[in-house]
Amino acid sequence: MSTDLDLARLVERLGTRPRTTVLTGAGVSAASGVPTFRGEHGLWKSHHPAELATPEAFERDPALVWEWYDWRRQQIAACTPNRAHAVLAEWNRRDPTFTLVTQNVDGLHELAGTTDVVRFHGSIWEVRCWRACAASPSRWRDDSVPLPSIPPTCPHCDGPLRPGVVWFGEGIDPAVIARSELATRCELFLTIGTSSLVYPAAGLVQQARRHGAFTVEINPEATPLSSGIDLVLRGKAEDVLDTLWPQLMQIT
Ligand code: OAD
Repeated sequence: MSTDLDLARLVERLGTRPRTTVLTGAGVSAASGVPTFRGEHGLWKSHHPAELATPEAFERDPALVWEWYDWRRQQIAACTPNRAHAVLAEWNRRDPTFTLVTQNVDGLHELAGTTDVVRFHGSIWEVRCWRACAASPSRWRDDSVPLPSIPPTCPHCDGPLRPGVVWFGEGIDPAVIARSELATRCELFLTIGTSSLVYPAAGLVQQARRHGAFTVEINPEATPLSSGIDLVLRGKAEDVLDTLWPQLMQIT
């Protein structure tokens, strides 16, 4: 766990009322019961991304891919936001400069009350027409759990729908890239609960540092980017943010 001295450095920064951006990853939802991707019990330990999270995998076997996403949707639907989501939502409510960028597709930040979340990897609660048929919107929300049919079909062309998430080998929505890059022009950038292995999301903290931001990592484990971070807080997101809560309430 990080020391009081480490936390005091962050509290001191907060006292300057910095423009703040937070990037979150799967670790933030771990305490809610949503599995992370890497690590001992991570999803990628028992499943291969190439078989489930690529356009080629979907082309080959849309039912298999949807069975996996339907299972994850059921799992997430049974989860509720934890203390980390709650503290970030309150920070967002109090600080008009605050921007939250998340790699998580679970929607728990929004459920906790954070608004205008930049969803870097899309949302597991959205669907898109696989054929991008002319009559369908680019994406829309579908909360059905479990899904009534697998694969679900497009109400406009009867073709298959796909999950509204970003798969390996796909580009990030240019509007999302633009919002994220703008958010790296901040004074304080926190990267929380991410292994910092997947780009371009992982590159945002480095970009923020180049723009002059003070960078903070909150994670119980070291990441490949830890050595280039200004302040590393070793601990779980829900614990570190909870400890920070009273200070945050005084400052913002
Ligand atoms: P990972 O599973 O790669 O990493 C989770 C990180 O959370 C690890 O560094 C853990 O040490 C940390 N962690 C675990 N419990 C924590 C806790 N309670 N508090 C804080 N940190 C904790 O997940 P991501 O970095 O989010 O992409 O993965 C990035 C992307 O890879 C995902 O968005 C997904 C995945 O493949 C796509 O699907 C495109």
